[in-house]
Amino acid sequence: MAFVNLNPGTLLAPVPAVLVSCARKGEKPNAVTIAWAGTVNSDPPMCSISVRPERYSHDIIEETGEFVINLCGEENLKATDWCGVKSGRDFDKFKECGFTALSVPGMEAAPAIAECPIYLACKVKKVERLGSHDMYIGEIVSMGVSDKLLDESGRIDYSKAKLVAYNHGAYYALGDALGFFGYSVAAPDVLERRMAQLK
Ligand SMILES: Cc1cc2nc3c(=O)[nH]c(=O)nc-3n(C[C@H](O)[C@H](O)[C@H](O)COP(=O)(O)O)c2cc1C
Repeated sequence: MAFVNLNPGTLLAPVPAVLVSCARKGEKPNAVTIAWAGTVNSDPPMCSISVRPERYSHDIIEETGEFVINLCGEENLKATDWCGVKSGRDFDKFKECGFTALSVPGMEAAPAIAECPIYLACKVKKVERLGSHDMYIGEIVSMGVSDKLLDESGRIDYSKAKLVAYNHGAYYALGDALGFFGYSVAAPDVLERRMAQLK
């Protein structure tokens, strides 16, 4: 096997493309598309988002110390792309995209986007000035899942969320489930049952 060496870049893939909502008290909310987002701690649950200082959203998050990560399903994709090429300086993005601002526990002003399947509301705990981007590490203080995603036993059925992945400039649908955490060592009966649940 041969490898072609490339210049170092941001080739990690797939990553999520999420809609991050933010707001100053009494002002219109904004939504910015962020691909440089990740889970960074389990207990307490924490996520990071990396935002360029020139984004309209940057100063809002910097000042308010809060943001909401809204996961993007296929139904939200066009709006997600649009919020990634237009600025809240020029548009009321919630109005233009038909988003409903949802007040969520733990947030002073940042709303969730009711049209997205899942939200994670975060309070900023730390900022790292990395170069091109400022990375905000936020503790997840509340979370919500659309009841349309829950199955009969109250579990999240991710196949209903139709979450979108982002690979270096393009959006992709997720394919079929291939396995589950620990499936490589699961007993045959567990493997069969759990794989059937994943459909
Ligand atoms: C798929 C996609 C991913 C993006 N990821 C980021 C990101 O991780 N960080 C960032 O600062 N900007 C990112 N952008 C660019 C911003 O979303 C874009 O500049 C947006 O218009 C800024 O909005 P605002 O000025 O209302 O904050 C991304 C854009 C797209 C389309």
